[in-house]
Amino acid sequence: MKPSLVVVGSLNMDFVVQVEHLPAPGETVLGRDFQMIPGGKGANQACAAGKLGGPAVSVRMAGRVGYDLFADHLKASLSAAGVDVTAVHATKSQPTGVALIWVDRSGQNSIVVASGANHALLPNDVGAMRQSFRGARFVLFQLETPLDTVELALVAAREEGARTILDPAPARPLSREFLAAVDILTPNESEACHLLGRPVTRVSQADAPALARDLQALGPRTVILKLGEQGCFCLDGERGIQARGFPVEARDTTAAGDTFNASLAVALTEGKPMEEALRFANGAAAISVTRLGAQASVPSRREVEEFLLSR
Ligand code: RIB
Repeated sequence: MKPSLVVVGSLNMDFVVQVEHLPAPGETVLGRDFQMIPGGKGANQACAAGKLGGPAVSVRMAGRVGYDLFADHLKASLSAAGVDVTAVHATKSQPTGVALIWVDRSGQNSIVVASGANHALLPNDVGAMRQSFRGARFVLFQLETPLDTVELALVAAREEGARTILDPAPARPLSREFLAAVDILTPNESEACHLLGRPVTRVSQADAPALARDLQALGPRTVILKLGEQGCFCLDGERGIQARGFPVEARDTTAAGDTFNASLAVALTEGKPMEEALRFANGAAAISVTRLGAQASVPSRREVEEFLLSR
């Protein structure tokens, strides 16, 4: 079956340790237990889309892994979520990507990514992706793979008739040409400030419209500012939409943004109006922060629907 959503991006094995507080430079902290949990921004989005998508949504992941056990594990995690992994290719020159993650008592984290094979997703891989893009409603991107590959794939996705969603994470400088190929841009507050070359500050719902307009001027038609527990602000063409968040007790914020993007894409693919898609995405992301880990924290569709009914 042709995929209706394609995710182009990273696959990492996450090495997660819970700590009382995040270590300062030069500090050693004693952590609690260690866990290996499937992650990587791209794979998290694919996994979440696979889990949350209804029968009308089929998901394919495109990316690179090494020839190792982590690769098998990561592909198995995606397959279990119903994701087609035929466009995840192994590369001999690099090991599978890994991420070292500390999570503190308040659920905040620090992440270091050793990109490995994700760095081997090269511009000349884009030709083979085109076939997957053809007929897809959306292609989802993030920034853990080489930027020249992402830029070329954004353009190719558009040429094949798909709409593009970019999660500009982790924050990296992006050219106007790059951003011009994005239909929906979904930064969090610090990524938004980075893209505009401004000092990172907290952004309230009141500040959001002006910030979103400045980002829209860089190219994307739709800007969705992810504002954590405040929810999000969406500037869709001329229309501003505030979608409130759902306060929850945070255990681990890892992959909340990935869960948001995937849920948004699923809801829009199903033809839901933007307001409803934002509420669905806020609900799924809120549940994910109550759980430890990346792909392990993604809720099922039923859980999201029950959560939203109870609010
Ligand atoms: O967005 C969360 C992800 O960032 C983690 O799963 C980790 O792999 C890093 O890529």
